[in-house]
Amino acid sequence: MADETDIESILHEKRQFAPPEDFAEHARVDAKKLKSLHELAATDNAGFWGQMARDEIEWHTAFTQILDESEAPNYRWFTDGKLNVSYNCLDVHLTERGERIAIRFEGEEGDTRKITYRELHALVCRFANALKAQGVETGDRVVIYMPMIPEAVIAMQACARIGAIHSVVFGGFSASSLRDRIEDAGAKLVVTADGGRRAGKIVELKAAADLALDGSCPSVETVIVCRRTGQAVNMKPGRDIWWDEVVEAAPEDCQPAWIEAEHPLFLLYTSGSTGRPKGVQHSSAGYLLNAKLTCRWVFDLRSSDVFWCTADVGWVTGHTYVAYGPLAAGATILIYEGAPTWPDGGRFWKNCQRHNVTVFYTAPTAIRALMKLGDELPAQYDLTKLRLLGTVGEPINPEAWMWYRRVIGGERCPIVDTWWQTETGAIMISPMPGATPTKPGSCTRALPGIDADIVDASGEPITKSGAGGYLVIKRPWPSMLRTIWRDNERYLETYWEKFGNRYYVAGDSAHRDRDGYFWIMGRVDDVLNVAGHRLGTMEVESALVAHEQVAEAAVVGQPHDIKGEAILAFVVLKGARPNGSDAEALAGQLREWVAEQIGAIAKPDEIRFADNLPKTRSGKIMRRLLRDIGRGEEITEDTSTLENEGILDQLRKKVPKVPGT
Ligand code: WT7
Repeated sequence: MADETDIESILHEKRQFAPPEDFAEHARVDAKKLKSLHELAATDNAGFWGQMARDEIEWHTAFTQILDESEAPNYRWFTDGKLNVSYNCLDVHLTERGERIAIRFEGEEGDTRKITYRELHALVCRFANALKAQGVETGDRVVIYMPMIPEAVIAMQACARIGAIHSVVFGGFSASSLRDRIEDAGAKLVVTADGGRRAGKIVELKAAADLALDGSCPSVETVIVCRRTGQAVNMKPGRDIWWDEVVEAAPEDCQPAWIEAEHPLFLLYTSGSTGRPKGVQHSSAGYLLNAKLTCRWVFDLRSSDVFWCTADVGWVTGHTYVAYGPLAAGATILIYEGAPTWPDGGRFWKNCQRHNVTVFYTAPTAIRALMKLGDELPAQYDLTKLRLLGTVGEPINPEAWMWYRRVIGGERCPIVDTWWQTETGAIMISPMPGATPTKPGSCTRALPGIDADIVDASGEPITKSGAGGYLVIKRPWPSMLRTIWRDNERYLETYWEKFGNRYYVAGDSAHRDRDGYFWIMGRVDDVLNVAGHRLGTMEVESALVAHEQVAEAAVVGQPHDIKGEAILAFVVLKGARPNGSDAEALAGQLREWVAEQIGAIAKPDEIRFADNLPKTRSGKIMRRLLRDIGRGEEITEDTSTLENEGILDQLRKKVPKVPGT
């Protein structure tokens, strides 16, 4: 699909909603302010960011240079400035807001905790001291593999406090994914928990960490284990220690390390179209700036708000809008440990009521799943404290948007559909809730200072409304990724080379309507978006071919009404093609195998067996053909190059499913 820039828009959404008047009246950014921000950024882009950085960040040493382009596209921001990110999230609030709640926590079983800014500061300092006592120094990598509990954020903030680089690995990833990430990052220490609770079950994090570490990951010296479930786990002498024991001995005061603006704050692994997941490297100052600013601009956050971003800290959304941005903005965050449907589909709404959530941010896949359960569940809860709703992760279909607005937002809350990526660090394209009229399904316009555009295959801007093209960002911005960890070549190749280093290439296609609003159409590379999570088709394919019976595999996405995309895998075995119940049994095994290799999110929804895969003469798998076959569509491609036309019938054949699986 890589060169499909002529995709014409198929959406014809006409509805439009002006910002509610009472919201606009009190908004941090109203139409007038938005206009002046845009003007300021347009006149002097670097100057604009320089001003923002001085206003929003407390610097230990002021910067003198805003943007260093000498090694573009490896841009550097505020380079000679020094700061500490954790200081900017915690210490800055102690005098005026020390007793305000920083974190409200709800466990899946309904247990709750409240942590004030002062308490959070002390918890972070203690854990930072504990890390130091374990020999962690500025620049060392710490892998965090945790459930959604306050300690996950405490561990991240503690790393930031001492200048250690964290890399959070989503708790749903398997031992083998964890091992790859620990090894690539060269982590010295791993922070995990005995287990976490999800959908009534225990996620065995420590057991998975043991599996990952045993016989590999020689860089890891220490594993700190937080007690969450209280279950028995193996503690390896000389390597594993309990969280409560290490913090007990640690003093409550930890001077922040004053690090350089460009010092890496974290690595976060994400899927690309080829090879292994790449370690997206973010900076300290630039990242913090956009994280904080977008919390104020897009979420209109104030210290009186209870902000619930439902993302796990294992994803970038959980970094920017759980662990850093809202704390820098001085708001209260809600952290919820469990599943949205536990014990029933009313849990999100129950949590909103119980914790007085005012701003709620979630993924379209969750909205679609909960919408399916009907209006009665949300109607049981008082959602009147909500004042703003957001979505992220994938395009939202207008029907789900309208339901969100009516049933959850009571037709009173503006909705912000926010487009961004792991690589962009923070929201890039989004309505300003008090200023931008919204349209269901559109993320509207780029934020001030962000120069987004849509270009054709030759890099020329597309001016025709409705015509699709490549989404690009034409100027550097502070929270952009700096590089791919240990692989700058891949950074250059993936994001810059397509248009001769002129633009950052997002990998999405989009079009603009007559009002200049952006409509994201989807990925232009072989990356899937399954339930709001990014997954490379190649990653799933390599997992499949790593199975002893598999010779070849091709993976494509299929439209799915809740998950957005489902995973369909075509598999060629080393032996004979199985039939009937054999096929069924092997398909089941292969699905489990992929879950073990990557994680449950990567389990193919469907597996089909064939004698070979359709390829072009040059040996490229004809993915588009496979996608059409998966959808049961008429085949329009030229199939004359196929070695064996009969194969098409095999590819069309579904493996019968065992009822209830
Ligand atoms: C990809 C980035 C950073 C958010 C979590 C996902 C898709 C993201 C939207 C949106 C349509 C969206 C894009 C993007 N995406 N937000 N509002 N509308 N599509 O982060 O895993 O880095 O994935 O998610 O395709 O490239 P990610």
